[in-house]
Amino acid sequence: MSALLQITGVSKRFTRHPNLAERMLHAVGGPDATQTVHALTDVTLEVARGEVLGIVGESGCGKSTLGRIVSGIYMPSAGSITLDGKPVARDRGGAAEKLTTQVQMIHQDPFASLNPRIKVGQTISEGPHHHRVVPRAQVDTMVRDLLGRVGLEPSYAGRLPHQFSGGQRQRIAIARALAMNPDLLVLDEAVASLDVSIQAQVLNLFLELRRELGLTALFISHDLGVVRHVSDRVAIMYLGRVVELAPAERIYNDPQHPYTRALFESIPVLGTGRREFHPIKGEIPSPLNPPPGCAFHPRCPHAGPRCRVEVPALSPAAPGHGVACHLNTGGVELAA
Ligand SMILES: Nc1ncnc2c1ncn2[C@@H]1O[C@H](COP(=O)(O)OP(=O)(O)O)[C@@H](O)[C@H]1O
Ligand code: SF4
Ligand SMILES: [Mg+2]
Repeated sequence: MSALLQITGVSKRFTRHPNLAERMLHAVGGPDATQTVHALTDVTLEVARGEVLGIVGESGCGKSTLGRIVSGIYMPSAGSITLDGKPVARDRGGAAEKLTTQVQMIHQDPFASLNPRIKVGQTISEGPHHHRVVPRAQVDTMVRDLLGRVGLEPSYAGRLPHQFSGGQRQRIAIARALAMNPDLLVLDEAVASLDVSIQAQVLNLFLELRRELGLTALFISHDLGVVRHVSDRVAIMYLGRVVELAPAERIYNDPQHPYTRALFESIPVLGTGRREFHPIKGEIPSPLNPPPGCAFHPRCPHAGPRCRVEVPALSPAAPGHGVACHLNTGGVELAA
Protein backbone atom coordinates (compact mmCIF):
# COMPACT_ATOMS: atom_id res chain seq x y z
CA MET A 1 0.00 0.00 0.00
CA SER A 2 1.42 3.39 -0.91
CA ALA A 3 1.70 6.02 1.80
CA LEU A 4 -0.76 8.89 2.12
CA LEU A 5 1.95 11.27 3.31
CA GLN A 6 5.42 10.95 1.86
CA ILE A 7 8.25 13.02 3.32
CA THR A 8 11.36 12.50 1.23
CA GLY A 9 14.85 13.78 2.08
CA VAL A 10 13.51 16.95 3.70
CA SER A 11 15.95 19.51 5.04
CA LYS A 12 15.23 22.99 6.35
CA ARG A 13 17.77 25.73 6.89
CA PHE A 14 16.89 29.09 8.42
CA THR A 15 19.21 32.02 7.89
CA ARG A 16 19.78 34.21 10.91
CA HIS A 17 20.66 37.64 9.61
CA PRO A 18 23.14 39.79 11.54
CA ASN A 19 21.82 42.69 13.64
CA LEU A 20 22.87 46.29 13.05
CA ALA A 21 25.92 46.16 15.32
CA GLU A 22 27.12 42.94 13.67
CA ARG A 23 26.62 44.44 10.19
CA MET A 24 28.60 47.52 11.16
CA LEU A 25 31.38 45.36 12.53
CA HIS A 26 31.40 43.34 9.32
CA ALA A 27 31.62 46.55 7.25
CA VAL A 28 34.91 47.45 8.93
CA GLY A 29 36.44 44.04 8.42
CA GLY A 30 34.83 42.03 11.24
CA PRO A 31 33.43 38.51 10.72
CA ASP A 32 30.22 37.93 8.78
CA ALA A 33 27.70 37.09 11.52
CA THR A 34 25.14 35.53 9.17
CA GLN A 35 24.31 32.14 10.63
CA THR A 36 22.46 29.10 9.38
CA VAL A 37 20.12 27.09 11.62
CA HIS A 38 20.06 23.43 10.61
CA ALA A 39 16.47 22.85 11.72
CA LEU A 40 15.92 19.62 9.73
CA THR A 41 18.36 17.40 7.86
CA ASP A 42 17.43 14.71 5.40
CA VAL A 43 14.18 13.53 6.99
CA THR A 44 12.40 10.70 5.19
CA LEU A 45 9.15 9.38 6.67
CA GLU A 46 5.88 8.06 5.39
CA VAL A 47 2.45 7.81 6.93
CA ALA A 48 -0.10 5.32 5.67
CA ARG A 49 -3.79 6.22 5.44
CA GLY A 50 -5.37 5.64 8.85
CA GLU A 51 -2.02 5.65 10.65
CA VAL A 52 -0.90 7.93 13.48
CA LEU A 53 2.82 8.67 13.48
CA GLY A 54 4.22 10.15 16.69
CA ILE A 55 7.13 12.59 16.45
CA VAL A 56 9.10 12.92 19.66
CA GLY A 57 12.16 14.89 20.62
CA GLU A 58 13.51 17.58 22.89
CA SER A 59 12.69 21.23 22.34
CA GLY A 60 14.51 22.65 19.32
CA CYS A 61 14.98 19.32 17.52
CA GLY A 62 12.83 20.45 14.58
CA LYS A 63 9.38 18.97 15.33
CA SER A 64 7.36 22.12 14.68
CA THR A 65 9.40 22.92 11.58
CA LEU A 66 8.53 19.48 10.23
CA GLY A 67 4.84 20.01 11.11
CA ARG A 68 4.81 23.36 9.33
CA ILE A 69 6.47 21.98 6.22
CA VAL A 70 3.99 19.10 6.09
CA SER A 71 1.17 21.63 6.50
CA GLY A 72 2.46 23.75 3.61
CA ILE A 73 3.36 26.71 5.83
CA TYR A 74 7.10 26.51 5.08
CA MET A 75 8.86 25.25 1.98
CA PRO A 76 11.64 22.77 2.66
CA SER A 77 15.18 23.84 1.66
CA ALA A 78 15.57 20.41 0.05
CA GLY A 79 13.42 17.35 -0.43
CA SER A 80 9.70 16.98 -1.04
CA ILE A 81 6.38 16.48 0.72
CA THR A 82 3.48 14.85 -1.05
CA LEU A 83 -0.02 13.97 0.09
CA ASP A 84 -1.62 11.30 -2.05
CA GLY A 85 1.17 11.86 -4.58
CA LYS A 86 0.62 15.61 -4.89
CA PRO A 87 2.84 18.37 -3.44
CA VAL A 88 1.34 20.15 -0.41
CA ALA A 89 2.85 23.53 -1.32
CA ARG A 90 4.86 25.33 -3.95
CA ASP A 91 7.45 28.05 -3.79
CA ARG A 92 6.11 31.48 -4.59
CA GLY A 93 8.74 34.20 -4.38
CA GLY A 94 10.58 32.43 -1.59
CA ALA A 95 7.44 31.76 0.50
CA ALA A 96 5.26 28.68 0.64
CA GLU A 97 1.94 28.72 -1.16
CA LYS A 98 -0.27 25.99 0.26
CA LEU A 99 -1.81 23.85 -2.46
CA THR A 100 -4.15 21.71 -0.40
CA THR A 101 -6.85 22.03 2.24
CA GLN A 102 -6.39 18.34 3.01
CA VAL A 103 -3.80 18.95 5.73
CA GLN A 104 -5.02 20.73 8.85
CA MET A 105 -2.79 21.71 11.75
CA ILE A 106 -3.76 21.94 15.41
CA HIS A 107 -1.44 24.07 17.51
CA GLN A 108 -0.35 24.03 21.12
CA ASP A 109 -2.00 27.18 22.30
CA PRO A 110 -5.81 27.03 22.22
CA PHE A 111 -5.91 30.62 23.49
CA ALA A 112 -3.93 32.09 20.63
CA SER A 113 -5.42 29.99 17.86
CA LEU A 114 -9.02 31.27 18.10
CA ASN A 115 -10.08 34.80 17.20
CA PRO A 116 -11.52 36.27 20.45
CA ARG A 117 -14.15 38.31 18.62
CA ILE A 118 -15.57 35.56 16.42
CA LYS A 119 -18.26 33.17 17.63
CA VAL A 120 -17.09 29.59 17.61
CA GLY A 121 -19.76 28.50 15.13
CA GLN A 122 -18.36 30.96 12.62
CA THR A 123 -14.79 29.94 13.43
CA ILE A 124 -15.68 26.34 12.63
CA SER A 125 -17.58 27.14 9.44
CA GLU A 126 -15.17 29.74 8.04
CA GLY A 127 -12.92 27.27 6.23
CA PRO A 128 -15.65 25.11 4.66
CA HIS A 129 -17.56 28.26 3.70
CA HIS A 130 -14.53 29.90 2.08
CA HIS A 131 -13.47 26.76 0.23
CA ARG A 132 -17.07 25.77 -0.54
CA VAL A 133 -16.63 22.36 1.05
CA VAL A 134 -20.22 22.39 2.31
CA PRO A 135 -23.31 24.03 0.71
CA ARG A 136 -24.36 27.17 2.57
CA ALA A 137 -27.69 25.67 3.62
CA GLN A 138 -25.91 22.83 5.43
CA VAL A 139 -23.36 24.89 7.33
CA ASP A 140 -25.39 25.25 10.54
CA THR A 141 -26.11 21.53 10.67
CA MET A 142 -22.42 20.79 10.07
CA VAL A 143 -21.36 23.09 12.92
CA ARG A 144 -23.84 21.55 15.33
CA ASP A 145 -22.78 18.07 14.30
CA LEU A 146 -19.08 18.86 14.74
CA LEU A 147 -19.60 20.45 18.16
CA GLY A 148 -21.41 17.29 19.20
CA ARG A 149 -18.62 15.14 17.85
CA VAL A 150 -15.99 16.92 19.92
CA GLY A 151 -18.13 16.64 23.04
CA LEU A 152 -19.56 20.17 23.19
CA GLU A 153 -23.18 21.34 23.26
CA PRO A 154 -24.37 22.27 19.75
CA SER A 155 -25.89 25.42 21.27
CA TYR A 156 -22.38 26.67 22.10
CA ALA A 157 -22.01 27.76 18.46
CA GLY A 158 -23.13 31.26 19.41
CA ARG A 159 -20.53 31.74 22.14
CA LEU A 160 -17.20 33.55 22.05
CA PRO A 161 -13.87 31.80 22.79
CA HIS A 162 -13.41 33.48 26.19
CA GLN A 163 -16.46 31.58 27.45
CA PHE A 164 -14.58 28.29 27.12
CA SER A 165 -11.85 26.58 29.13
CA GLY A 166 -8.50 25.57 27.61
CA GLY A 167 -9.63 22.00 27.02
CA GLN A 168 -12.89 23.16 25.41
CA ARG A 169 -11.00 25.56 23.15
CA GLN A 170 -8.78 22.73 21.99
CA ARG A 171 -11.96 20.75 21.21
CA ILE A 172 -13.13 23.73 19.14
CA ALA A 173 -9.77 23.80 17.34
CA ILE A 174 -10.22 20.09 16.54
CA ALA A 175 -13.77 20.74 15.26
CA ARG A 176 -12.47 23.57 13.07
CA ALA A 177 -9.81 21.27 11.59
CA LEU A 178 -12.31 18.43 11.02
CA ALA A 179 -14.72 20.83 9.30
CA MET A 180 -12.40 20.78 6.28
CA ASN A 181 -12.74 17.02 6.12
CA PRO A 182 -8.94 16.70 5.96
CA ASP A 183 -6.96 13.65 4.89
CA LEU A 184 -4.24 14.45 7.43
CA LEU A 185 -4.15 16.18 10.81
CA VAL A 186 -0.93 17.63 12.17
CA LEU A 187 -1.15 18.04 15.94
CA ASP A 188 1.77 20.07 17.26
CA GLU A 189 1.95 19.78 21.07
CA ALA A 190 -1.85 19.84 20.96
CA VAL A 191 -2.28 19.01 24.66
CA ALA A 192 0.94 20.46 26.06
CA SER A 193 -0.66 23.57 27.52
CA LEU A 194 -3.44 21.67 29.31
CA ASP A 195 -3.58 20.23 32.83
CA VAL A 196 -2.85 16.51 32.99
CA SER A 197 -6.48 15.48 33.63
CA ILE A 198 -7.71 17.68 30.76
CA GLN A 199 -4.93 16.29 28.54
CA ALA A 200 -6.30 12.81 29.10
CA GLN A 201 -9.81 13.93 28.10
CA VAL A 202 -8.62 15.56 24.88
CA LEU A 203 -6.43 12.55 24.06
CA ASN A 204 -9.40 10.25 24.58
CA LEU A 205 -11.45 12.44 22.27
CA PHE A 206 -8.70 12.16 19.67
CA LEU A 207 -8.69 8.35 20.02
CA GLU A 208 -12.47 8.23 19.74
CA LEU A 209 -12.48 10.41 16.60
CA ARG A 210 -9.71 8.33 15.21
CA ARG A 211 -11.78 5.19 15.60
CA GLU A 212 -14.91 6.78 14.15
CA LEU A 213 -13.34 8.69 11.28
CA GLY A 214 -10.22 6.64 10.55
CA LEU A 215 -8.02 9.72 10.98
CA THR A 216 -4.47 9.90 9.69
CA ALA A 217 -2.23 12.10 11.82
CA LEU A 218 1.21 13.34 12.62
CA PHE A 219 1.21 13.63 16.40
CA ILE A 220 4.03 15.85 17.63
CA SER A 221 4.95 15.99 21.31
CA HIS A 222 7.90 16.31 23.66
CA ASP A 223 6.02 14.00 26.05
CA LEU A 224 6.87 10.33 25.61
CA GLY A 225 3.80 9.21 27.57
CA VAL A 226 1.34 11.19 25.47
CA VAL A 227 2.80 9.89 22.21
CA ARG A 228 2.79 6.28 23.31
CA HIS A 229 -0.89 6.51 24.07
CA VAL A 230 -1.98 7.61 20.61
CA SER A 231 0.61 6.50 18.03
CA ASP A 232 0.98 3.41 15.86
CA ARG A 233 4.61 4.22 15.10
CA VAL A 234 7.00 6.67 16.68
CA ALA A 235 9.89 8.65 15.20
CA ILE A 236 12.50 9.90 17.66
CA MET A 237 14.23 13.08 16.51
CA TYR A 238 17.53 14.53 17.58
CA LEU A 239 18.94 17.81 16.27
CA GLY A 240 16.89 17.80 13.08
CA ARG A 241 17.26 14.14 12.18
CA VAL A 242 15.21 11.01 12.75
CA VAL A 243 17.39 8.72 14.86
CA GLU A 244 14.93 5.91 15.51
CA LEU A 245 11.64 4.83 13.95
CA ALA A 246 9.55 1.86 15.02
CA PRO A 247 6.10 0.67 16.05
CA ALA A 248 5.20 2.43 19.31
CA GLU A 249 5.37 -0.70 21.47
CA ARG A 250 8.81 -1.57 20.12
CA ILE A 251 10.20 1.88 20.80
CA TYR A 252 8.96 1.69 24.37
CA ASN A 253 9.88 -1.93 25.05
CA ASP A 254 13.06 -2.30 23.04
CA PRO A 255 14.65 1.07 22.29
CA GLN A 256 17.87 0.64 20.31
CA HIS A 257 19.38 4.06 19.77
CA PRO A 258 21.58 5.28 22.66
CA TYR A 259 19.67 8.59 22.63
CA THR A 260 16.27 6.88 22.88
CA ARG A 261 17.60 4.69 25.67
CA ALA A 262 18.89 7.72 27.51
CA LEU A 263 15.44 9.27 27.21
CA PHE A 264 13.84 6.28 28.86
CA GLU A 265 16.36 6.33 31.63
CA SER A 266 15.47 9.94 32.32
CA ILE A 267 13.32 10.68 35.32
CA PRO A 268 9.57 10.01 35.23
CA VAL A 269 7.31 12.92 36.13
CA LEU A 270 6.36 12.33 39.74
CA GLY A 271 2.82 11.19 40.37
CA THR A 272 1.70 11.25 36.75
CA GLY A 273 3.07 7.96 35.43
CA ARG A 274 4.43 9.92 32.47
CA ARG A 275 7.91 10.73 31.29
CA GLU A 276 9.00 14.01 29.89
CA PHE A 277 12.43 14.93 28.73
CA HIS A 278 14.95 15.56 31.43
CA PRO A 279 18.51 16.57 30.89
CA ILE A 280 20.71 13.83 29.55
CA LYS A 281 24.39 14.24 30.38
CA GLY A 282 25.84 17.10 28.33
CA GLU A 283 24.25 20.00 26.49
CA ILE A 284 22.14 19.70 23.35
CA PRO A 285 24.52 20.98 20.66
CA SER A 286 23.50 24.13 18.78
CA PRO A 287 21.66 23.64 15.49
CA LEU A 288 23.75 26.61 14.30
CA ASN A 289 26.76 24.38 14.38
CA PRO A 290 25.79 20.70 14.59
CA PRO A 291 28.58 18.27 15.49
CA PRO A 292 30.07 16.35 12.57
CA GLY A 293 29.34 12.64 12.21
CA CYS A 294 26.63 11.41 14.56
CA ALA A 295 25.15 14.54 16.15
CA PHE A 296 24.69 12.62 19.42
CA HIS A 297 28.37 11.70 19.72
CA PRO A 298 29.36 14.42 22.25
CA ARG A 299 26.82 12.94 24.69
CA CYS A 300 26.94 9.26 23.75
CA PRO A 301 28.60 6.78 26.12
CA HIS A 302 29.38 4.46 23.17
CA ALA A 303 30.88 7.01 20.78
CA GLY A 304 33.87 5.73 18.86
CA PRO A 305 36.12 7.31 16.21
CA ARG A 306 33.75 6.53 13.34
CA CYS A 307 30.91 8.33 15.13
CA ARG A 308 32.82 11.60 15.02
CA VAL A 309 33.16 11.64 11.25
CA GLU A 310 30.40 9.58 9.64
CA VAL A 311 26.67 10.28 9.87
CA PRO A 312 24.90 6.99 10.61
CA ALA A 313 22.05 6.23 8.20
CA LEU A 314 18.65 5.08 9.45
CA SER A 315 18.91 1.37 8.78
CA PRO A 316 16.83 -1.63 9.86
CA ALA A 317 17.61 -3.19 13.23
CA ALA A 318 14.54 -5.43 12.83
CA PRO A 319 11.67 -5.47 10.37
CA GLY A 320 9.96 -2.06 10.55
CA HIS A 321 12.47 -0.79 13.11
CA GLY A 322 15.03 1.72 11.87
CA VAL A 323 17.96 2.98 13.92
CA ALA A 324 20.56 5.58 12.93
CA CYS A 325 23.57 4.38 14.91
CA HIS A 326 26.84 2.74 13.91
CA LEU A 327 26.36 0.24 16.75
CA ASN A 328 23.39 -1.09 14.81
CA THR A 329 25.52 -1.91 11.80
CA GLY A 330 28.22 -3.39 14.01
CA GLY A 331 30.65 -0.73 12.91
CA VAL A 332 31.61 1.07 16.06
CA GLU A 333 34.68 0.55 18.16
CA LEU A 334 33.29 0.90 21.64
CA ALA A 335 34.84 3.62 23.72
CA ALA A 336 37.00 2.32 26.57
N1 LIG B 1 11.29 30.77 11.61
C1 LIG B 1 12.46 30.43 12.13
N2 LIG B 1 13.58 31.18 11.92
C2 LIG B 1 14.77 30.84 12.43
N3 LIG B 1 14.98 29.73 13.16
C3 LIG B 1 13.92 28.94 13.40
C4 LIG B 1 12.61 29.25 12.90
N4 LIG B 1 11.76 28.27 13.31
C5 LIG B 1 12.51 27.39 14.02
N5 LIG B 1 13.80 27.80 14.08
C6 LIG B 1 14.91 27.10 14.74
O1 LIG B 1 14.91 25.79 14.22
C7 LIG B 1 15.21 24.85 15.25
C8 LIG B 1 14.05 23.85 15.36
O2 LIG B 1 12.92 24.53 15.89
P1 LIG B 1 11.50 23.86 16.08
O3 LIG B 1 11.12 23.20 14.81
O4 LIG B 1 10.57 24.89 16.61
O5 LIG B 1 11.78 22.76 17.19
P2 LIG B 1 10.79 22.01 18.21
O6 LIG B 1 9.39 22.21 17.71
O7 LIG B 1 11.24 20.59 18.18
O8 LIG B 1 11.02 22.63 19.55
C9 LIG B 1 15.43 25.65 16.51
O9 LIG B 1 16.83 25.88 16.65
C10 LIG B 1 14.71 26.95 16.24
O10 LIG B 1 15.30 28.01 16.95
S1 SF4 C 1 26.51 6.43 16.06
FE1 SF4 C 1 28.02 6.37 17.69
S2 SF4 C 1 27.75 8.32 18.79
FE2 SF4 C 1 25.95 8.00 17.54
S3 SF4 C 1 24.51 7.05 18.88
FE3 SF4 C 1 25.56 5.39 17.78
S4 SF4 C 1 27.29 4.84 19.10
FE4 SF4 C 1 26.52 6.79 19.83
MG1 LIG D 1 7.69 22.94 18.68
